[in-house]
Amino acid sequence: MHSNWRNKKAWESFALPLSSPSDEACKMFDATVTQYVGWYDDDSVGGIEGSLSKMMSADQNFVMGHVLKNGLELLGTGRNLKLDPELKADLDLMITLAEKSPVCDWERKHVQAMHQWSKGNMKKASLVWEDILTEKPTDVLALKFAHDTYFYLGCLPDMRDSVARVLPQWKKSMPLYSYLYGMLAFGQEETNLFTEAEKSALKALSLNKRDAWATHAFSHVNEMLGRQKQGSDFLEKTETDWASCGMLACHNYWHWAVYHIERGNYEDAIGIYENAIYPRFTKSGAMLDIVDAVSLLYRLEFEGISCSDKWKEAFEICQPHKDDHILSFNDAHIMMTCMGSNNQEEAQIFLQSLQNFINNGEGDNRNISENVGKAICEAIFAYKNGDFELAVDLLMSIRYQIVTIGGSNAQRDVFNLLLINAALKSPLQKYQQLARGLLYARKCFKENAPMTDRLMARALGNHVD
Ligand SMILES: [Fe+2]
Repeated sequence: MHSNWRNKKAWESFALPLSSPSDEACKMFDATVTQYVGWYDDDSVGGIEGSLSKMMSADQNFVMGHVLKNGLELLGTGRNLKLDPELKADLDLMITLAEKSPVCDWERKHVQAMHQWSKGNMKKASLVWEDILTEKPTDVLALKFAHDTYFYLGCLPDMRDSVARVLPQWKKSMPLYSYLYGMLAFGQEETNLFTEAEKSALKALSLNKRDAWATHAFSHVNEMLGRQKQGSDFLEKTETDWASCGMLACHNYWHWAVYHIERGNYEDAIGIYENAIYPRFTKSGAMLDIVDAVSLLYRLEFEGISCSDKWKEAFEICQPHKDDHILSFNDAHIMMTCMGSNNQEEAQIFLQSLQNFINNGEGDNRNISENVGKAICEAIFAYKNGDFELAVDLLMSIRYQIVTIGGSNAQRDVFNLLLINAALKSPLQKYQQLARGLLYARKCFKENAPMTDRLMARALGNHVD
């Protein structure tokens, strides 16, 4: 693990001068950025919480410190400014400090970007980060904030090209250099450049085997190429390398369990849920962990595995987030918990909350919710209540816009499965034929997919004239 934190002078030597007189604040800024990029907590500084706290104690007026602190809250935890006066006060303080202090241009732009993000204008924020990167390609914080934002918005080519533009401008000796390959790998994989993605991911891992994001990118490559056995074996062999990266471990376990579900190894998938995912999502309460847990339960139920005893806790842990509406991707999974736990009344309340957000909210996710997210939630509701035709109609009209709700191609596959299962369950011949067509298309994209084969067997077993 990297621990030679950059002081004020070292940051200046990277052409990224920090407007703080405190060496300790600059060092703890580096420590926090490093953990954020690496998805882990470094015990030597007390984890991200510890380094953030030390940074702010060393210099309470550190503008980039406030940017980082607020950025991690907004991008990492999905806190909603309108429902969170404390976060609103922190944002206001950051803006006031930037106005009063003689900050550098790149720092001022970071404040602007975070201000835009806090208002829900994620795309606008990413444009500001890209503007910074044009002049300062080694600003890894701008790169990472942009990377995460593209992930939230389903901006897949942006996620790839953002890293590709700056990587040749880095030197191998620069701190965090290897992580760029993992980020590039994920952008390449999400844009179906699987050969290039595999090469980038393995390069990142050859430089740092504990890069959990590179492991994750490689897991996606295995998923998309139908290499479920290879993917499982790789995660098993390298588990001690990535499982210590606490912010991503749960998600890598999710990938592992998804391989098992595809192969029909339901006991193994449930074992991963119970031993690795359940303890993590119930402890962290982080939406990234929660959606993984929910998504697994939903997929298992498609396969005929009842998870009725597991839904209640997933539902309960989502309840504090039911009015956040930060990301439509999260909302869809909250809806799954309402229906999975048979909370029809709460589902109706949640749909009304989403409608209120569409009526009165603002920003990118308001528009995405109106155009796509609401239909997904209504389809989840309809499916559970046996209105399979409505679920199909809702999803068919938006299926190629679902990418805009964010998440990865592999994660959003749950909505493809919802559509296929709804069509399969419909008694109407037209929908039975549609199910076959959807499965032919699915097979076309991924040849080795036992789940597709099982679904096709079901489709062919249904009568079609
Ligand atoms: Fe993933």
